[in-house]
Amino acid sequence: MPSASRQSPGIFITLEGGEGSGKTTQARRLCACLTAQGLTVLRTREPGGTLLAERVRTILLDHHKETIAPETEALLILAARRQHVDHVIKPALAQGKTVVCDRFSDSTMAYQGYGRGLDLRILRTMNNWATGKLAPHLTLVFDVPVSVGLQRRRGQDATQNRLDREAERFHKNVRAGFHALAKKEPRRIMMVDASSSIESVEREVEYLVTNWIKTHRFPKPRRREDRCPSLIS
Ligand SMILES: Nc1ncnc2c1ncn2[C@@H]1O[C@H](COP(=O)(O)OP(=O)(O)OP(=O)(O)O)[C@@H](O)[C@H]1O
Ligand SMILES: [Mg+2]
Repeated sequence: MPSASRQSPGIFITLEGGEGSGKTTQARRLCACLTAQGLTVLRTREPGGTLLAERVRTILLDHHKETIAPETEALLILAARRQHVDHVIKPALAQGKTVVCDRFSDSTMAYQGYGRGLDLRILRTMNNWATGKLAPHLTLVFDVPVSVGLQRRRGQDATQNRLDREAERFHKNVRAGFHALAKKEPRRIMMVDASSSIESVEREVEYLVTNWIKTHRFPKPRRREDRCPSLIS
């Protein structure tokens, strides 16, 4: 699959992993670190990242009286992704920005494929169609035991969303899915042991990403951070 590198001057980094694995915490810290290094950074998330896609996110995370078929869930996610790619990610990459995205296509493979049991080949084809084959240059998968991640989510005092309430088996399959994806694409996907402290995970992430950027030829960093504060906190 062609990655963003052949299509644009920016760097596209995605953070993946199960519930409560620390993606959002580390996305904020990584963006601060990259900004301090002189990169122009855009932090965004999925599902979401545009006004319309954030509305789809609400549908996906809310509880509903009618059941949502796995196919419906996948189609909603892909619809939101297309909006996000067209309106936010591609333009930012074209401007040479570093895009740090909290979840992207690998979550679809892990959750809807390995978790819900949808056909992986169909999902991959549909995802390629939805993204125009845009793929991240680098993906970090935050790996924690399911019980640890769910415990952290509960500790956040966050109301339980639709996915938090899934059975433990579902979350275990998702985790196994991320492992399988990393094994298939070891050059793009790096696993991060996210069970240690926030600071220790942060140091590892900084080390991995900084070294990765150094070994890949990207345009000279610019100064200025650019975020979407109205969409994500
Ligand atoms: N390494 C860590 N050790 C202990 N607690 C952590 C660690 N990383 C994050 N947390 C805490 O766990 C909770 C969930 O973290 P965070 O929101 O970053 O995870 P997430 O992967 O984005 O979750 P979600 O899947 O719900 O989006 C937060 O309260 C956060 O402070
Ligand atoms: Mg999060």
